[in-house]
Amino acid sequence: MSPKPVILDVDPGHDDAVALMMACGSPELDLLAVTTVAGNVALEKTTRNALRVLSLVGHTGVPVGAGASEPLHRPLRTAEDIHGESGLDGPKIPEADFEPDERGAVGLIADTLRDSPEPVTLVPVGPLTNVAALLRAHPGLKGKIAHVSLMGGSIGLGNTTPAAEFNIFVDPEAAREVFDSGLRITMSGLDVTHQAGAGTAERDRLRAAGGVGGVVAGFLDFFAATYEGIFGFDAPPLHDPVAVAAVLDPGLLKTRPMRVDVECESELTRGETVCDFYGVTGKPPNADVGVELDRAGFFDLLYDSLQRL
Ligand code: BDR
Ligand code: CA
Repeated sequence: MSPKPVILDVDPGHDDAVALMMACGSPELDLLAVTTVAGNVALEKTTRNALRVLSLVGHTGVPVGAGASEPLHRPLRTAEDIHGESGLDGPKIPEADFEPDERGAVGLIADTLRDSPEPVTLVPVGPLTNVAALLRAHPGLKGKIAHVSLMGGSIGLGNTTPAAEFNIFVDPEAAREVFDSGLRITMSGLDVTHQAGAGTAERDRLRAAGGVGGVVAGFLDFFAATYEGIFGFDAPPLHDPVAVAAVLDPGLLKTRPMRVDVECESELTRGETVCDFYGVTGKPPNADVGVELDRAGFFDLLYDSLQRL
């Protein structure tokens, strides 16, 4: 089978960095482009981090388009408390060997979709601002999007407010537009990404593997310390790689079709993904929502991909 064409939209971020490396190390995927968005840190930093990570693994032929520096309608909320001032604190990695693509995120995605002979899978793992902007600017290109495998939201608890997960909280209006777009969506929310915690055993296995494993383990050690301090977790969740795994091997993620509506107004619950688990609204489902992750299978896939780099 020919590799599946994908575009990753990222805000690196430690788990975004791992998601990027996982995609680069997976021959089943054809990484056509990477786009960056403001989220974990400001856009200049997420773009720098994406370029540095791709340079580290030698994938400098992948065009990187810088996207939105702000959410559609709100000031940006960032997460330096989790990812550090640079967005990728921890082991020092070299500066990038290449520059961002001058078309920017929306132009790059649009051109990439147009040029691809087959529909492309989008993997957004930050706030959904770029994807919403693309749909606004180029509604005619929807047919060129095969699938959206996103990290964001939660059926249950939030991690930024009691109700809201970070990516959706940062730009709820964009998330609402994407969930209401009619595109085929797989949502990897906190319910499943919290099953992908990288504990000491997983980090030690990465360290022992050599190659980029040592850098990844170092990033995850930093991530582990902040996650422990803020959430009390002993194993930081590899949120964003789950959305990549859901494309690589959909069997790893058990999903359930649901209607997902995004709360944009309430002060208390803004950014909540209201998931109609039991179908009580009678509204047709608009997403396949992850409910269970094959944790062992996920980590095997991750180690295999990183070992190829
Ligand atoms: C999401 O928020 C970010 O901090 C992570 O990169 C991930 O995409 C988890 O809520
Ligand atoms: Ca992210």
